[in-house]
Amino acid sequence: MNATGAVAAAVVPAAGRGERLGPGAPKALRELGGVPLLVHAVRALTRSRAVGLVVVAAPADGVAEVVGLLDTHGLDGKDIRVVPGGATRQESVRLGLAAIPAEVEIVLVHDAARPLVPVEVVDAVAAAVRGGAEAVVPAVPLADTVKRVEPRPAGPEPVLDTPDRSTLRAVQTPQGFRRETLAEVHEKALAEEAAAGADALPAVTDDAGLVERFGGRVVVVPGHEEAFKVTRPLDLVLAEAVLARRRAADAY
Ligand code: CTP
Ligand code: MG
Repeated sequence: MNATGAVAAAVVPAAGRGERLGPGAPKALRELGGVPLLVHAVRALTRSRAVGLVVVAAPADGVAEVVGLLDTHGLDGKDIRVVPGGATRQESVRLGLAAIPAEVEIVLVHDAARPLVPVEVVDAVAAAVRGGAEAVVPAVPLADTVKRVEPRPAGPEPVLDTPDRSTLRAVQTPQGFRRETLAEVHEKALAEEAAAGADALPAVTDDAGLVERFGGRVVVVPGHEEAFKVTRPLDLVLAEAVLARRRAADAY
């Protein structure tokens, strides 16, 4: 396999601040087992034979730092590029996508904040796109019952209804796309925002959501419980435990 045709490129949005994780460095640079989250996430992608190139969208003022970290952690032999990210996740993905060579036909988008995604999930998503899907998301069933509410910042929130849990999935990354589909929906979203104002549009928190907004077909493949996103402090505690368990297993 080479850098064209069936080999995928991956965009890693890593420019967020990690406000929900609390004060400190940008989330992607926070450490898990002594290694930045971003480095774990990039390694998880480069472990997949389906991925030939990784483009990291770094914090805009942290490009040189990120390049240095990737070198320090032994990723300097891989085809990895670092570009400055944007003010929103969507913008960071768009900027990363723009740095991918034109001949690459399959693009994965993977959050830097999901450091422990197993390589099997990366492979399965890429394989589903290779198999003909235009947009693929890994997802897992929900443990909790979910209710829709009328949001009220103070006081009890009225419940509107309870969706049937068996039809719900919690969506993870990497999400995989035909490159032209992903580029097209990002362009359309940008044009819509320019026309209507970003605040007038519903918030989209993943790339597959953009494909849905413009009428594309998205399919789900099985995700993995270890592909969870590090969002709040407790997630980091869980991630440390998962990593310790893996390291112990590798020692045998
Ligand atoms: N992200 C990005 N550019 C932004 C915002 C987010 O590249 N302007 C990335 C984050 O770095 C992360 C991924 O998108 O890898 C998922 O976002 P999230 O978990 O929300 O991370 P943060 O935005 O950093 O966290 P928070 O929302 O708590 O501030
Ligand atoms: Mg965020």
